[in-house]
Amino acid sequence: MASHLFATKSLKVIMAEAEDTGEHSLRRALGPINLITLGIGAIIGAGIFVLTGQAAATSAGPAIVVSFILSGIICAFAGLCYAEFASLIPISGSAYTYGYATLGELFAWIIGWDLILEYAFGAATVASGWSGYAVSLLEDLGLHISPRWIATPGTEMVFYKGHWAELGSIGQALTAAGVDSAVLPHAVAAFNLVAFVGIFVATFILVVGIKESANLNSAIVILKVAIVLVFIAIAGTFVIRHPSLAASNWHPFIPPNTGKFGEFGLSGVARGAAVIFFAYIGFDAVSTAAQEARNPQKDMPIGIIGSLVICTVLYILVSGLLTAMVPYADLNVSAPVAVAIDATGVRWGSLLVKAGAVLGLGSVMLVMLLGQSRVFYSMSRDGLLPKWAGAIHRRFRTPWISSIVVGICVAGFASFIPIGDLAVLVNIGTLLAFLIVCAGVWILRRKRPDLPRPFKTPLVPLVPILGILTSLAAMLSLPAKTWWRLLIWLVIGMVVYVFYGRTHSKVRNASPR
Ligand code: ALA
Repeated sequence: MASHLFATKSLKVIMAEAEDTGEHSLRRALGPINLITLGIGAIIGAGIFVLTGQAAATSAGPAIVVSFILSGIICAFAGLCYAEFASLIPISGSAYTYGYATLGELFAWIIGWDLILEYAFGAATVASGWSGYAVSLLEDLGLHISPRWIATPGTEMVFYKGHWAELGSIGQALTAAGVDSAVLPHAVAAFNLVAFVGIFVATFILVVGIKESANLNSAIVILKVAIVLVFIAIAGTFVIRHPSLAASNWHPFIPPNTGKFGEFGLSGVARGAAVIFFAYIGFDAVSTAAQEARNPQKDMPIGIIGSLVICTVLYILVSGLLTAMVPYADLNVSAPVAVAIDATGVRWGSLLVKAGAVLGLGSVMLVMLLGQSRVFYSMSRDGLLPKWAGAIHRRFRTPWISSIVVGICVAGFASFIPIGDLAVLVNIGTLLAFLIVCAGVWILRRKRPDLPRPFKTPLVPLVPILGILTSLAAMLSLPAKTWWRLLIWLVIGMVVYVFYGRTHSKVRNASPR
């Protein structure tokens, strides 16, 4: 009986499903450039635009650059493993399907459930970051939204320098500037309506169709990368012209530890890496679009690794410049990149960055929501989730019901849970998925050395082992409460599996008892 828990789904069946082009299947519309842009669309988002500032201000200081390098290394190991799987098993379920093929149903379920943390909670995190830039942009344009509707319930807001900001975030900067927060206008937020609306619009676009979404996404990604490059140009010029300011902002490069794990010092650099890991999440989302790719065997590795490399280079430059331009303690705000541009005095730059962030983070929401509904689609086809989760709309050819259900839940998370809590939960869940995927590559190489692998992870088992160890190290750098939340999430998942998935599984029911 227990062996059924580890029943694997045969690769032949998986491949046959991937080949299926009937009316219940997804449309194959994406080429290599679409896939790279899909990857960049998922990667550059709230991580670099919001969390970098917070992680620099509270964990790593200017050494956030080192955190980015460390985190990039973890992703490189995992990216190489994802690339092997995505070219070998080009089906929309991503890590979930890889787990089913290699480690068996129980692990597949755990990964699928865990991927909800990555995609659904990830979309919520980004929506939360998006709302910060959207509100700031609207304020610059003279449109003021009541502070009650721009943050999660109970957040204390103060009006400072023309913007409503969270008191908990800017307290340190206010003290440094000698401002008594008691004299500033105050308000308490009720819920984040702006983030809610963002998810609502993204869900609508997704239900209408993948081709349209991919084209819109490509246009936004080009704009987003252009804006990051404009930032690098403006900031780079500023830093070259003010070398002494940059030198003083970068000193001390690693601020001394406060006595608590993760607050500056070396442990702060490690915590910083585990937090800004969020900025890299998304290259794996390329693999969830495998069934919509025209030539997945060849193009999946290009999409995954290409997008990861481009983003790593951009991140190192952006994070280095950010902390050189502005004292790191001032970056704990909802729109840190805009704050840094403001420091240069280039006013149009700040408006441009905000507009770019609003569109750019919007594209991340799209890809994350897309990834989530695709994973549900695969799980439902396997019988682990109810049929409706995989139902494809006749005209739009999209998994519309799961998109709508996911959209409603994500909008709820985004408007009620603070971004910092969401992000670390997403990170721990994603790191767990990475760890299992790395192990899966190694296991499948041993179990099925004969399979044709259009892309091979180099140096197996060294690269998968390093992927496992570095992901685990990053997980261990996250706060204990995040571990508890992960555990509770996994327990809920096991309950759902025991009472639904286990009895409805198609693989189990097909295999002799
Ligand atoms: N990497 C994506 C972001 O930073 C999830 O928003």
